[in-house]
Amino acid sequence: MIAITGTPGTGKTGVCNACGLDCLDLNSVIAEQGFYTGVDTERGCLIADLARLKEYVRNKEKEHKLLVIEGHLAHFLNPEVAIVLRANPIVLAGRLKRKGFPPQKIKENVEAEMLDIILAEAVELCKIVYEVDTSGKSIEEVASLVREIIDAEVEGESVGRNALREKYKPGSVDWTGHLTVTMKNEK
Ligand SMILES: Nc1ncnc2c1ncn2[C@@H]1O[C@H](COP(=O)(O)OP(=O)(O)OP(=O)(O)O)[C@@H](O)[C@H]1O
Ligand SMILES: [Mg+2]
Repeated sequence: MIAITGTPGTGKTGVCNACGLDCLDLNSVIAEQGFYTGVDTERGCLIADLARLKEYVRNKEKEHKLLVIEGHLAHFLNPEVAIVLRANPIVLAGRLKRKGFPPQKIKENVEAEMLDIILAEAVELCKIVYEVDTSGKSIEEVASLVREIIDAEVEGESVGRNALREKYKPGSVDWTGHLTVTMKNEK
């Protein structure tokens, strides 16, 4: 099982739709199967029932040779590989604004991205983690890179796979430089 994860707005769904693979969209599964324990009215989102989602995905895994799942909770579902999509916080804020997110939700997600929250969770939970910066790349470019990573993990030879793992290893993306520039400009 391969998980495509990342802060909301990093492009998981767009990239999965463009990469030509059949991906399981966890947001849709949660909503359609009723895998939630309540509704967070302040944030306007569902509170996922992770235990039921886990069981559903475990059963799906048995039916598929390769299962690709996508969503900001995907790395919690015991995937063999996690691909964490990243986006420059300023770029992310613009994407979330265009997506119609309320200001408070934009702020929370931008802060989570700045603090590498999902990356840190993925590194703790998954053995193999790729980190891919989507800022400045089109959805198609990111999709083709994600496809290359998945192909390398599923059927690639070890030299090429190790080179990709090294190139996109966790820690390759760092937003603190942007933060320092912003703070200097504000002085
Ligand atoms: N690489 C990209 N370049 C430009 N725009 C992008 C890129 N990736 C995604 N977008 C745009 O950003 C918005 C958010 O993308 P998308 O819905 O795929 O994010 P997501 O990670 O699936 O978010 P969520 O976790 O909320 O489902 C969309 O409007 C999409 O078109
Ligand atoms: Mg999505």
